[in-house]
Amino acid sequence: MKIFHLSAECYPVAKVGGLADVVGALPKYLNDELAEASVVMPKYANEWMKEHTFETVLQGSAPLGDWQFEFSIQREAKDTLGFPLYVVDIPGRFDRPGIYTDADTGNSYWDDFERFASFQIAVLDWFNGIKEKPDLLHCHDHHTGLMPFMLTQCYRYNDLKHIPTVLTVHNAEYHGDYDRGKAHLLPNFDDQNFGLLDWDGKLNCLAAGLKTCWQITTVSESYMKELSYNSNGLEWLFQNEEQKSRGIINGIDTNVWDPETDPMIAHSFNKRKTAAGKRKNKKVLCEEFGLDPQYPTISFIGRLVYEKGADLLPDLFRSLLESEQSVNFIVLGTGDRELHHQFESMSNRFIGYFDAALDYNEPLAHQIYAGSDFMIMPSRVEPCGLNQMYCMRYGTVPIVRNVGGLKDTVVDISKDEGYGITFNDFTFHAAQDAVQRAIDLFKDGRKMAGVRKRIMNLDFSWNASAKEYIKMYTELIEQ
Ligand code: GLC
Repeated sequence: MKIFHLSAECYPVAKVGGLADVVGALPKYLNDELAEASVVMPKYANEWMKEHTFETVLQGSAPLGDWQFEFSIQREAKDTLGFPLYVVDIPGRFDRPGIYTDADTGNSYWDDFERFASFQIAVLDWFNGIKEKPDLLHCHDHHTGLMPFMLTQCYRYNDLKHIPTVLTVHNAEYHGDYDRGKAHLLPNFDDQNFGLLDWDGKLNCLAAGLKTCWQITTVSESYMKELSYNSNGLEWLFQNEEQKSRGIINGIDTNVWDPETDPMIAHSFNKRKTAAGKRKNKKVLCEEFGLDPQYPTISFIGRLVYEKGADLLPDLFRSLLESEQSVNFIVLGTGDRELHHQFESMSNRFIGYFDAALDYNEPLAHQIYAGSDFMIMPSRVEPCGLNQMYCMRYGTVPIVRNVGGLKDTVVDISKDEGYGITFNDFTFHAAQDAVQRAIDLFKDGRKMAGVRKRIMNLDFSWNASAKEYIKMYTELIEQ
């Protein structure tokens, strides 16, 4: 079974968020289950691409509206990732360091649509020319949402029409919507079908993918249910397409995320020696941030954006610190400028109790998972969430809002066999209550040790979900 994953991100090649982690892990697990899964992504001008060698598979040119553009398909020569990686080199479009945004200005690139449309056209042209066609295309998020549309609608790809397509929604907050006029950049299709590209008067890449793919998946079951009443304007579409939608929970790459072998943490440990391992890592972490390790350490890792509920954190942390609670907070992430300012001023005000690294820093993230006692995720929306699973693998107890994938992966300690702290409402008080429960748990050493033991014995690997994907692929291919 030859499966191609089409994505804008793939860890460790190019990462902005959890999408990269999924695309960099799932194919490995699929390949263990008798699939031949590869990843196809744009060739950005980043360090990873410079440090690896590629073999050219195809050199070609393809139309983008009235222009022709040159591209080449290249395969990573040494297969270092555990699956074949193909990159699409499009000079003038992707030979820039940023994935979505220009690091100098923080803005999206002006030719976003042209970039990802040419990427998808180049890939389909490549598949058009090869004898042994893929058995299935698995697209991820709006950047590859035009694939199912072009495959079914553009005459140029008639020979590929029979190939089943899956579109996985990792984040429906972003749609990739553009001026309708951009449609003329795609290869010819019947004008009467323009409606398939349209949502609310815009050319909407996610909507087009949802309407034309064979199968929609979301990265958790709860998220799938939530999308029909909360998807940034696509609610009605998700309701309409419910028949072909299903949720499959993400897993984590337990080889990358393993406290026993993780080269990015200061002291390795395992589930037999958790307490000592956590203590040593906490000491290193607290030294780094100038915090006192005798207090519970509660961390947040992630993009500092509305969706993740990051705007709840400053007041929450401030109120607890002002009431002279003995607790530490750490923030790692970048995003909203206003939040950057607030966290910077809090670092100066609460020296020894609060600190923030306003940065994207993968090794530091690993050390925070290993050294913290708790990880807080107050998300407004959380399609799956991976951080709660990463932290649990490192013996760190999650404090999460009951939403999307967080709801599907964390059971509150008040329930039998529970192992995390959950809260329902997106309010300051609900979050404050949850943090207070965490502080109380920390004070009860025996109970805390019991919860730690439980979380370190949970299995969040991809094994079960990879099997579900294979089953779904098989059904689609045999249809
Ligand atoms: C997005 C979502 C996150 C999910 C990840 C991988 O980043 O926001 O919840 O875990 O994609 O699917």
